[in-house]
Amino acid sequence: MRILVTGGAGFMGSEFIRQAIGKDYEIILLDKLTYAADLKRIEEVEKDIIFYKADINNREFADHIFKKEKPRVVVHWAAESHVDRSIMDASPFIDTNVRGTQVLLDVARDYEIEKFINISTDEVYGELGTEGQFFEVSPLKPNSPYAVSKTSADMLGRAYFRTYGLPVITVRPSNNYGPWQYPEKLIPVVILKAMDNKPVPVYARGENVREWLYVSDCADAVFQIIDRGKAGEIYNIGSGQERKNIDTVKTILKILDKSEDLIEFVKDRPGHDYRYSLNIDKIKGELSWQAGIKFQEGIEKTVKWYVSNIDWVEKKVNYLKSLWEKVYVKT
Ligand SMILES: NC(=O)c1ccc[n+]([C@@H]2O[C@H](COP(=O)([O-])OP(=O)(O)OC[C@H]3O[C@@H](n4cnc5c(N)ncnc54)[C@H](O)[C@@H]3O)[C@@H](O)[C@H]2O)c1
Repeated sequence: MRILVTGGAGFMGSEFIRQAIGKDYEIILLDKLTYAADLKRIEEVEKDIIFYKADINNREFADHIFKKEKPRVVVHWAAESHVDRSIMDASPFIDTNVRGTQVLLDVARDYEIEKFINISTDEVYGELGTEGQFFEVSPLKPNSPYAVSKTSADMLGRAYFRTYGLPVITVRPSNNYGPWQYPEKLIPVVILKAMDNKPVPVYARGENVREWLYVSDCADAVFQIIDRGKAGEIYNIGSGQERKNIDTVKTILKILDKSEDLIEFVKDRPGHDYRYSLNIDKIKGELSWQAGIKFQEGIEKTVKWYVSNIDWVEKKVNYLKSLWEKVYVKT
């Protein structure tokens, strides 16, 4: 089956592509190659995929790709994905996540697509207190510009299913982690700083809770949805592995045999969501999917990968310095 993958040079899309090649799918990749992209992530399968470097906002080009490559399924991962950057400047988030998604949905309408998998996020639901879970039918109350842009994309997908019958499926994963994640996100930042014996920044007191999903489990769920998911439906993908950020940081320090004295509390992120937690009864019941990797196993594998690939990570540091200066302000 031919799949058009957007954003496959990114963290999660590249995991999806690596697995897809192993499953004999034919992959057409459309990626603009922003700062967050790196073709090294898919180097081992590069010869097996068709790659177009382009912006999803380029309607003419997207149309050309659909006409030429005739994909049956679209898996739309491409996005501006970092909350802190959206707080500094929401514009690229609206351009790519909202308008870009609309362009792709529009182009897809003109072709015979079996499924358009729109990758969303748990952040569309807003935040929870210490109790409760988000269901697929929970109200959407996004709090950051990033989350608003993803919610808008979700709503566009919903409208294109309802109005035009485009077979859109919305997928809402929880926080992903694993090898190849760009070191602006919590887990790789902690690993990188700790390996360097530098202060490890933690927002506020690190009490915020995240549900950690190992990236290969997330890709696996998306394959189940491609096979058996129903058009017009929404699927949460979570792991049930909730951790306070401070506990995640301490776990990483322990694996690296570093002192907790490296922890440096910094000014909280504005509008910081306290907790996310996804109910996954739907995907478990309908598609018999559940995450296979427990947090301790996943985090050990992740740390090991970063230790072995520290050269790749360190190459990104220069680009990250100005972001870090702005967002990690000592309290
Ligand atoms: N990382 C997480 O924890 C997480 C959790 C839930 C959902 N998501 C969603 O999953 C998807 C993938 O996240 P990620 O962490 O792999 O992101 P990422 O930032 O690592 O990669 C994004 C990719 O999209 C590409 N891209 C960005 N703008 C583009 C444009 N205009 N045209 C074409 N390509 C463009 C980039 O070049 C990059 O390859 C996103 O939609 C994100 O919102 C992420």
